[in-house]
Amino acid sequence: MVSSPFTDPAFLADRYPTYAALRATSPVLQVPLGSGATAATVVTGYDAARQAFTAPVLSKDTEAYFAGRPSDRSLHPAVARTMLSVDPPEHTRLRRLVTRAFTPARAADLRPYIRSLAEQIIGLWEPGSEVDLVEELAGPLPVAVICQLLGVPPVDRTSVRSWSTALFASGDHQRIDDASHALATYMAELIGSKRACPDHSLLSDLTAVHDDDAGRLSEDELLSLAVLLLVAGHETTTAAIGNAVLALLQHPAELERLRASPRRIRGALDELLRYDSPVSIATWRWAPDEVDLDGTAVPAGSPVFVCPGSANRDPSRFADPDRLDLGRADASAHLAFGHGIHRCLGAPLARAEIEIVLGVLLEHAPNLQLAIPSDQLVWRRSRLVRGLEALPVQL
Ligand code: HEM
Repeated sequence: MVSSPFTDPAFLADRYPTYAALRATSPVLQVPLGSGATAATVVTGYDAARQAFTAPVLSKDTEAYFAGRPSDRSLHPAVARTMLSVDPPEHTRLRRLVTRAFTPARAADLRPYIRSLAEQIIGLWEPGSEVDLVEELAGPLPVAVICQLLGVPPVDRTSVRSWSTALFASGDHQRIDDASHALATYMAELIGSKRACPDHSLLSDLTAVHDDDAGRLSEDELLSLAVLLLVAGHETTTAAIGNAVLALLQHPAELERLRASPRRIRGALDELLRYDSPVSIATWRWAPDEVDLDGTAVPAGSPVFVCPGSANRDPSRFADPDRLDLGRADASAHLAFGHGIHRCLGAPLARAEIEIVLGVLLEHAPNLQLAIPSDQLVWRRSRLVRGLEALPVQL
């Protein structure tokens, strides 16, 4: 047993040395969780992570895991039980229905909106001034895009953003639970209004989507899906934009490669996502029965944390993994969007957002640089998301 890596402030500031040490001990390892009362299985190796993402013997059914355990939590059921916390056949049915409506073409349709939003925000920045890129761009843009996708009216977007942000406030359970109720109540009303007056939004389409075998989405399923899309696509993309810009600012030669040829941005996305993965530790999994993972026994009942952030830096898969190399040929093998049946549904949209934001930024901010030394940057206190609290830049 080693001590819990997740509670160590040094881990949140820089996860990669910890991941390297864990991987070197074993790609699948038992570690104590927080208080030390319960152990969890941490999967840090690339092969083991791919295996864990696709292992049908690992469950995502959070309700089944926590059943019978005392809890003082009162998360709204639409937040507590989503597509990400159920197994087949329930998951298969939901995924089939949602992918009918949330297609890559729908993400592509949002490109002009994303571009105009990025230009609007960045266009206001005075040359030579200092801005917090997270507060002004990486934070508000993804939430506006998902609101546009779902059909949330502009006047409600500030409230929606604050509830979604609160859901990620690690540690403050009351605040998280309250935000879950506020967001679910709002979304239930919005679904009602889309039923009454259908429009071209994804939410409106989801109220009508059906499949001969899978049927229709129930009211509860629709609500939890709306909430999941909002939450899953917000903080992750915020972190992705911040991490990508930071990585480029810390690697001026690579940044110059993109400046010289902005058409390369699309091809650089995979390496940026691999290098500093926004979802560092994937969502909750557990082993209902004892199972073998990459040669290591995972005890029955163990929570399993699969770490894309570590797998993507595994030297047994990526040569010289701690180096950012925008020309890396096999970067697309990264696990930043997960793998298997729960692989990110919003990946095409997330890619479009990062690509467009980087393009507009390179175009409008030719002298962009970090406004503070790298070691003064503050990282979010989140196990799941690796993202910056703030990214002060000089234009
Ligand atoms: C760069 C940004 C993003 C990253 C890095 C990311 C990453 C991930 C990862 C790793 C998973 C799998 C989690 C697991 O298996 O434990 C996932 C699932 C998911 N993501 Fe994303 N995501 C991003 C953006 C988005 C966006 C923009 C949306 C929607 C608008 C979205 C919607 C979802 C949904 C619905 C799932 C669950 C899929 C399922 O259970 O079948 N994500 N994402």
